[in-house]
Amino acid sequence: MALTENEVELIKSSWKPAEDDPKKYAVLLFKMLFTKYPEYPKLFSDFSDVDVANIESDKRVLRHALKVLNAITGVVHLLGDPEKMNDIVETLEQMARGHLRRQIGLDKFENLGHVLIEFICQVNDFKCPASVTVPESTDSTAPNKTTNGGADDNAQQTAASIDASDLVKSWTKLYSVILDIVKKESASTPSKLIDLPTASSMDDDI
Ligand code: HEM
Repeated sequence: MALTENEVELIKSSWKPAEDDPKKYAVLLFKMLFTKYPEYPKLFSDFSDVDVANIESDKRVLRHALKVLNAITGVVHLLGDPEKMNDIVETLEQMARGHLRRQIGLDKFENLGHVLIEFICQVNDFKCPASVTVPESTDSTAPNKTTNGGADDNAQQTAASIDASDLVKSWTKLYSVILDIVKKESASTPSKLIDLPTASSMDDDI
């Protein structure tokens, strides 16, 4: 991942709202995730009865959503403090292993990445460009995917959407750090090793 100064600046400024009000934005991120992937609450032992319209009031959702948001904040911070890189990578590796044991693999992390990009655009009042590369493992053999974030007509793209395109590219690069870690861990985690740790044992892990 080689981010330019401008990309780092874009990432940090666009993440600021989430960093300043983690609860509010953690809920929003998961509301968007569960709306787009309504089957995901069922992955959580306790979330299966989640009412997506009212997840603000659901402490169980908030707890996990905050972990995700804080992990991303940690990665964003690392951009300004490369010495912490190893700590963050280790934490993310443990997190990835915990999820892989539950069969939450690369596809779900990629889908979280798609939603994260839409989230960033929404939080910053940007229209996502019509067709952008979504967070993807840096594996060059993986097919490129595109997402339609809302702007259907290229002709309607304004200067703001050009900025949004830079924003999306920057976040795509950054999120690929997480995807690469999940990918690396999936290659080394035996697929038959499916123990389902309790939330608290995963907390220890992470
Ligand atoms: C950067 C991404 C993520 C981070 C940092 C993260 C973090 C965590 C942590 C710390 C836990 C264990 C403690 C707890 O239950 O709160 C956990 C559990 C869990 N995570 Fe994630 N997570 C991420 C992405 C995902 C994704 C993409 C999914 C599925 C779509 C997912 C599904 C789960 C499930 C099902 C559990 C078990 C919770 C339970 O059943 O009680 N996570 N995650």
